[in-house]
Amino acid sequence: MPHEVRGVIARSKGGPVAVETIQVPDPGPGEVVVDVQACGVCHTDLHYREGAINDEFPFLLGHEAAGTVSQVGSGVSNVNEGDFVILNWRAVCGQCRSCLRGRPQYCFATHNAHQKMTVDGIELTPALGIGAFAEKTLVAAGQATKVDSSAEPEVAGLIGCGVMAGLGAAMNTGGVTRGDSVAVWGCGGVGDAAIEGSRIAGAHTIIAIDLDDRKLEWAKDFGATHVINSAGMDTDQVVEAVQALTDGNGVDVAIEAVGSPAAYEQAFFARDLAGTVVLVGVPNPEMRIDLPMIEVFGRGGSLKSSWYGDCLPTRDFPMLIDLHLQGRLQLGRFVSEKIGIEDVEAAFHKMEQGEVLRSVVMI
Ligand SMILES: NC(=O)c1ccc[n+]([C@@H]2O[C@H](COP(=O)([O-])OP(=O)(O)OC[C@H]3O[C@@H](n4cnc5c(N)ncnc54)[C@H](O)[C@@H]3O)[C@@H](O)[C@H]2O)c1
Ligand SMILES: [Zn+2]
Ligand SMILES: [Zn+2]
Repeated sequence: MPHEVRGVIARSKGGPVAVETIQVPDPGPGEVVVDVQACGVCHTDLHYREGAINDEFPFLLGHEAAGTVSQVGSGVSNVNEGDFVILNWRAVCGQCRSCLRGRPQYCFATHNAHQKMTVDGIELTPALGIGAFAEKTLVAAGQATKVDSSAEPEVAGLIGCGVMAGLGAAMNTGGVTRGDSVAVWGCGGVGDAAIEGSRIAGAHTIIAIDLDDRKLEWAKDFGATHVINSAGMDTDQVVEAVQALTDGNGVDVAIEAVGSPAAYEQAFFARDLAGTVVLVGVPNPEMRIDLPMIEVFGRGGSLKSSWYGDCLPTRDFPMLIDLHLQGRLQLGRFVSEKIGIEDVEAAFHKMEQGEVLRSVVMI
C-alpha cells in the first residue's frame, strides 16, 4: 500500500514552495523507505526551485537528511528496518568504468530508486534523487548509510550534503594537510565546513572571505584564522589581501564555495605557485570564466571541481559521525534554527538574507 505523507513541493520556477500530500510507494527490489527525522535546507534546494538545475517540475525538495529505515525491499542487504541512516545522493554502482578502476568516489553511474513518488498522480523529481522534506521518502538502498544512532538527527543529516561537500572539498579534493595555507570564498554551510575540514586536517593559515561580516564572525568559530570582507573589492584587491596574510605568496589551497565567476577568478589568482583551486560552489548554466591561458599554465598546480567532497558515503559518513561524537567535529554550530515542514519557504528567505547557516526541518 503506498503511503500518503506530507512533503514540500516546488511546482514552478521561482514560485513559493508548499506542503502537499504525496504518495510514497512500498519499496521495490533494491529500494528502502526511510522515515525522515531531520533535513537541512541547502542552497541547492533553492537552485532547484529557481529552475537553475533543470526544469523537471514538480520537485520534491530536501536532500540533507537523517532518519530511520522503515521498510526494505527485496535483495537489500546493507541496511535493516530500524537502522539510523544518513541519506546520500551518490550511491555508487560498483560496475561503471570508474568503479571498476577502483575509484568509486567518482562513480559515473550513481543510482536512485526506480519507482517514482507522486503528487496528484504526477511523477515527482526528488531533489538530488532524495526528496527528504517529507515524512517518508523512497531511495535506493545504497543511498542509505547506517551510522551510530547516538548522533542527533539534526546534525547527522548535515553530513548528507553541505557539510560533507565542504569538509571533503578541503580534506579529499583539496588534499589540505598539516602546515597548508587555505582560503575559502563563501562562508555559508559549505564554506564553513571547508574551514572546519581545513582545521581538522592541520592547516596553518585559514582565510575566510565573504561579503557579510556576520558570516565572517561565524567563520572564526569554525577555525578561520583571518577574515576578509570582499564587498566592494575588485579581484586585485582581494588577491593582495590574501597575499598580505601569506608572506606575499598566496594560499596553497583556494576553495570557491559560492558558485560565482568573480569569486572563482579571485581564488585562481590568490593561490600560490603549484597551488590548488577547488570549485565546490555550483554555477548556473549561463556563467562564464575568462582566464589568461598563460597563467593557467605558468602557475602550475591544479584546478579541480569537487562533487560532494569526493566522498564515499560508506567510508566517510560513519567516520565523520564518530569524529563528531568524540567532540572533534563541531556539527552543532551549523544548526542556526530548527523549523517545521511548513517553514521551508521562510528558510529560503533567511538564507538569501544571510541570516542562517543551516535551517533544519524537524519531521
Ligand atoms: N559541489 C557540491 O557537491 C555542493 C554541495 C552542496 C552545495 N553546493 C553549493 O555550494 C554553494 C554554497 O552553498 P551554501 O549552502 O553554503 O550557500 P549559502 O548561501 O549559505 O552561502 C553562500 C555564501 O557565499 C557568500 N558570497 C556570495 N557571493 C560572494 C562572493 N562574490 N565572494 C565571497 N562570498 C560570497 C554569501 O554571503 C554566503 O555567505 C552553493 O552554490 C551550493 O549550491 C555544492
Ligand atoms: Zn545540498
Ligand atoms: Zn560506478
